[in-house]
Amino acid sequence: MRKLLVTSALPYANGSIHLGHLVEYIQTDIWVRYQKMSGNEAYYICADDTHGTPIMLKAEEEKVTPDDLVKRVHQEHDADFKAFNVNFDHFYSTNSIENRELSESIYNSLNDNDKILSKEIDQFFDEAKQMFLPDRFIKGTCPKCKAEDQYGDSCEKCGATYSPTDLKNAYSVLSGTEPIKKKTLHYFFKLSECDEFLKKWTENETLQLEAKNKLKEWFDMGLQDWDISRDAPYFGFEIPNAPGKYFYVWLDAPIGYMASFKKFAKMNNLSFDEYWKKDSTTELIHFIGKDILYFHALFWPATLNYSNYRTPTKIFTHGFLTVNGEKMSKSRGTFITARSYLDHVKDPNFLRYYYATKLNSSMEDLDLNLEDFVAKNNSDLIGKFINIPSRTSGFLGKFFNHELMPLTLIASDEGLALLKKIKESRVAIEEHYEAREFSKLVKFVMQLIEDLNEYISKTEPWKLAKQEQQQKPHSALHEICSICLKSFRILSIFLTPIIPNLCEKIALFYGEEFFDSFNLIEDDVLKIKTYKHLLKRIEQESVDLMINSNSKD
Ligand code: 2FM
Ligand code: ZN
Repeated sequence: MRKLLVTSALPYANGSIHLGHLVEYIQTDIWVRYQKMSGNEAYYICADDTHGTPIMLKAEEEKVTPDDLVKRVHQEHDADFKAFNVNFDHFYSTNSIENRELSESIYNSLNDNDKILSKEIDQFFDEAKQMFLPDRFIKGTCPKCKAEDQYGDSCEKCGATYSPTDLKNAYSVLSGTEPIKKKTLHYFFKLSECDEFLKKWTENETLQLEAKNKLKEWFDMGLQDWDISRDAPYFGFEIPNAPGKYFYVWLDAPIGYMASFKKFAKMNNLSFDEYWKKDSTTELIHFIGKDILYFHALFWPATLNYSNYRTPTKIFTHGFLTVNGEKMSKSRGTFITARSYLDHVKDPNFLRYYYATKLNSSMEDLDLNLEDFVAKNNSDLIGKFINIPSRTSGFLGKFFNHELMPLTLIASDEGLALLKKIKESRVAIEEHYEAREFSKLVKFVMQLIEDLNEYISKTEPWKLAKQEQQQKPHSALHEICSICLKSFRILSIFLTPIIPNLCEKIALFYGEEFFDSFNLIEDDVLKIKTYKHLLKRIEQESVDLMINSNSKD
């Protein structure tokens, strides 16, 4: 049995969960559910990413303390994740005692290993606000194309990247005044000394090929020391023995993975060390988006290594979400929050299923085409999948007391062959899950569902039902419906990681609580309950309403 600690990136605590975020949470959730159903010990760990200047300023704007803001957002995030059946084993916060202690001790170890240096640097300072300004809070005229109101790090018009000192007519986004340059002492993690270790680390099968290539580019450019401190006022953890200096949010954020697990381990009598000590044999898996690869594939393993912890086993990176082929956009109404989806479309199964049809192991972007979203769900889940029990279960109720024929009594070669084929596909299905090839997996399962529908069309149970007089010890109708409903149960077990909510209802239809193991496919199910409608079609109208309501914001 494998032991895995699996994470998704920690969402910032200053915004709502949106459909872009959900790509990753749904991808990870499917993978962890698959691991658990395969009999492995897997823990899905997450937390809110609570520190930094934007969160501090947002709290100020709302006239609440950052602590209160973070608590409120945590509740909202928690409710959104639950509504989409994202089943964290622990969803914590980086603003926790465990995270403070771990961040401090990791920093101290890095210091002991001579991986920290401090030096004075020039930083922009807003005199009106009396604070140093992060690059994103400085705007000005692009030095290249002269476009106005561009951010301090890059120009949205011409794509040039530069440092805030290059901007013309720079001004502070907070006060509108011109920032001055001021010297301040900052602390750096000596990433430039980690080159050899990191190159070696990336030689293992830790990263996808595309990610590996990206790292090669970064190695070729040379690794720079990493500024891990920020000046007060800052919402975060103060650096030991450095009054007024705080850990940059990206230092304590990934440590939040450890902290969340630490709390979870304590509550559940698990060993923290078993998962984090240097020579750990457990697996540490991070799911992330491609925008934060640098942090996870360079800073994070180096931080862990030089503070005497284990390093990640795998980093699985995915691409971005586009909606109708374009970047999510507030003006087009395609910047859709999780809440807005729930208010309008309501059913989480549809988004989870649709994402699964698009997800694979690459870093390519994936598109949510809203027309296709409606058509595909209605056609696959309603028209094909749910169609199986709705075409066959009534006959079992009417003629056979809701009882299925035991496998040993079924004589039809065709039916038995189909059931066998479905059962034997477990191996391929588990391989696809393991490889994160969900798109291939769904296609494969859909083909089996189509085979089953064809079998129903060909055997025409409704015609047999007309001839069926009374319950007999053996009948073709009974056989056909039994084959279909035994097969449907197996297919539902296979699809549980993707659409757990729908499959829970299906389990109840068989008088079971939940499909929690792929081994359940071996059971010869003998009874069903009365079939109740399992899923309602998506109406295009609800999607249109969702878009309209978002465009108004
Ligand atoms: O990019 C983000 O949204 C970050 N909040 C992710 C942090 S992941 C981890 F390192 F904490
Ligand atoms: Zn420009």
